[in-house]
Amino acid sequence: MYIRKDIEPFKNKIWLASPTMHGEELKYMTEAYETNWMSTVGENINEVERIAAEKSGMKYAVGLSCCTAALHLCCKLAGERLYGRAQISHGALEGRRVFCSDMTFNATVNPVVYEGGIPVFIDTEESSWNMDPEALERAFELYPEVKLVVCAELYGFPGDMKRIREICDKHGALLIEDAAEAMGAELNGIKCGTFGDYSAVSYNGNKIITGSAGGCLLTNDIEDAACQVTTR
Ligand SMILES: Cc1ncc(COP(=O)(O)O)c(C=O)c1O
Repeated sequence: MYIRKDIEPFKNKIWLASPTMHGEELKYMTEAYETNWMSTVGENINEVERIAAEKSGMKYAVGLSCCTAALHLCCKLAGERLYGRAQISHGALEGRRVFCSDMTFNATVNPVVYEGGIPVFIDTEESSWNMDPEALERAFELYPEVKLVVCAELYGFPGDMKRIREICDKHGALLIEDAAEAMGAELNGIKCGTFGDYSAVSYNGNKIITGSAGGCLLTNDIEDAACQVTTR
């Protein structure tokens, strides 16, 4: 392993968010228990979806078991939109190159591979620790056939998402925004979760808000949102 000698590690760890309780959590858990909605549906989930959509500014939010599941569905939906429905036992991105963030949690990229895609890692810019738009432009020069970009917002800080969105539009590519860590963050008044054609947020235990686990897929497309309901 290569260890840079010019970077001194912090003495103490900097933790991500840890859960805090604010009074009503137990009430809602008890309510779900007593009304027998200990399930993947119910009023609590409807309300999470309503608030997630409202707060993000996307039209629809679909509650899922985790953000990884949401990202997987993003890949399936994007793949089907771009390349048509995959045959049974084949992935929606089979054999297709997909431009991906290269410094992120592995769940950003794993779903690309679950769907048979070939991740092409795009360099990170120093200023934001996120995808470098210049490197993305160069990647489109090398692989002009690519039609999908998966971009994370590391530690909840958006990179230059406006430019990344513009580059995707210029090349006719779809954008999946991994906003797992970025719920509530914004860039020049534009909320994280609204840059992507499909976006995903996480309610894992180390995220901004948590249900212990969980996540949402965000989209403006009602057909995509509706088809999720049958697959969760
Ligand atoms: C950037 C990023 N993407 C995806 C995930 C996956 O989220 P989940 O644990 O809800 O599946 C996480 C966190 O766990 C993450 O930090």
